[in-house]
Amino acid sequence: MSDIMNVSYDTLIPNNVGLASDKRVLKGLEKWHPGYINWWNDLIPQQFQQSLIYLRTAVSVDPKGWAKFDYVKMPEYRWGILLAPQVEDRKIPCGEHAGEPVWQEVPGEYRSMLRRLIVIQGDTEPASVEQQRFLGKTAPSLYDLRNLFQVNVEEGRHLWAMVYLLQKYFGADGRQEANDLLLRSSGSEDAPRMLGAFNEETPDWLSFFMFTYFTDRDGKMQLESLAQSGFDPLSRSCRFMLTEEAHHMFVGETGVGRTIQRTCEAMIKAGIEDPYDIEKIRALGVIDLPTIQKKMNLHYTLSLDLFGREVSTNAANAFNAGIKGRFMENRLEDDHKLNDATYGVCDIVDGAVVRREVPALTAVNMRLRDDYVKDARGGVGRWNKIIEKLGIKFELKLPHEAFNRKIGVFADHLFNPQGQIIDQAQYDASINDWLPSNADGDFIQSLMVPVTEAGQYASWIAPPRVGINNMAGDFEYVKLHDA
Ligand SMILES: [Fe+2]
Ligand SMILES: [Fe+2]
Repeated sequence: MSDIMNVSYDTLIPNNVGLASDKRVLKGLEKWHPGYINWWNDLIPQQFQQSLIYLRTAVSVDPKGWAKFDYVKMPEYRWGILLAPQVEDRKIPCGEHAGEPVWQEVPGEYRSMLRRLIVIQGDTEPASVEQQRFLGKTAPSLYDLRNLFQVNVEEGRHLWAMVYLLQKYFGADGRQEANDLLLRSSGSEDAPRMLGAFNEETPDWLSFFMFTYFTDRDGKMQLESLAQSGFDPLSRSCRFMLTEEAHHMFVGETGVGRTIQRTCEAMIKAGIEDPYDIEKIRALGVIDLPTIQKKMNLHYTLSLDLFGREVSTNAANAFNAGIKGRFMENRLEDDHKLNDATYGVCDIVDGAVVRREVPALTAVNMRLRDDYVKDARGGVGRWNKIIEKLGIKFELKLPHEAFNRKIGVFADHLFNPQGQIIDQAQYDASINDWLPSNADGDFIQSLMVPVTEAGQYASWIAPPRVGINNMAGDFEYVKLHDA
């Protein structure tokens, strides 16, 4: 086993990047550390800061066994800086430098582009913790409470990962950007987070599960494309983040799945066949399937906006520079330069949504979004299997990607979830059937009561099939501190 597999815990900041002998960067990070801890302490409600949470901590980057599980108080969590092992003789995978050795230092001509991409990625990490900050108070079980905090501490670690790159490779302006990452705040009027979806609220647990399924999956796609970067430290950083990200999407997929399962079980038990018999279903203390569909419509479309404009010169420049690749760039079989290739991007012609061929270089955002849509479809199919297996006649469907969009070609028109252009009157008449209304929000909120007894679950959600780290059903995932 090489050195890089083991993480050193003798500095304040656990790491496998040799911080102990990199005094300048170590000092910079130690200076940044108190601000980070303050941010965390101000954010997460006090009672949970004192609680013991059964968390995993990365102790290695060996894919076969990188995590250790134990009870930790969150402010004492060891947020580390971990890079995946270096790939020997790695080459820049795309763009005009394709085939040249990867960069170990920032190439001067791409410095500002690279810094901007790292800052945007870094900005999303604390933003999601901010969005989820109050959910601990209404967790449907200790198991779910633990999962929330696991996701939160790992998003915190992802912030550390980006701050390390800024401090190590970008000098004074990197340090400034690192400080600014703690100043912006989700939903703030004066200093909001950089991307729209990260300024939306996550008001309830169904939103949290949808967010971790759909929005963390955007995170996955961005990390996948940055993992292809010709700037090797960024690539290695993102590769390790991806191993953690998988759990976040697992929390989302199983969370929505368990919600669906409980709803269908309750309907069967009460002899309700019609999924649109909403009042009766809600009276059972579960979330009706049409409302779950509406939540999905919202979070899916917010996440699509994160891919940016369909045709983008910024994206073309990043690809051409070899700073950001396509999904699985190293497995694609073309010239990886895209000088002559074309790609079909969404557009609107004569009131209908069409695909129009443009230079592929300018369409890398669209292509990544297409890969995302395919990836996101998988879980929806598995949710439908749960419904089908329990014998309820209802099918969840991803809305057309034109629906409810704020960015790109669809932003200037109104669409229904089938992707047809509609006018304002039609939109107003049906929007409460397509997106969660205030009343839907109030109903879901009414179910959000905390359940704090080990092995017990709120009325609206089924227990998981397996425990974290294979723990038994009544395992106490959180030892709550009495307020
Ligand atoms: Fe993350
Ligand atoms: Fe995540």
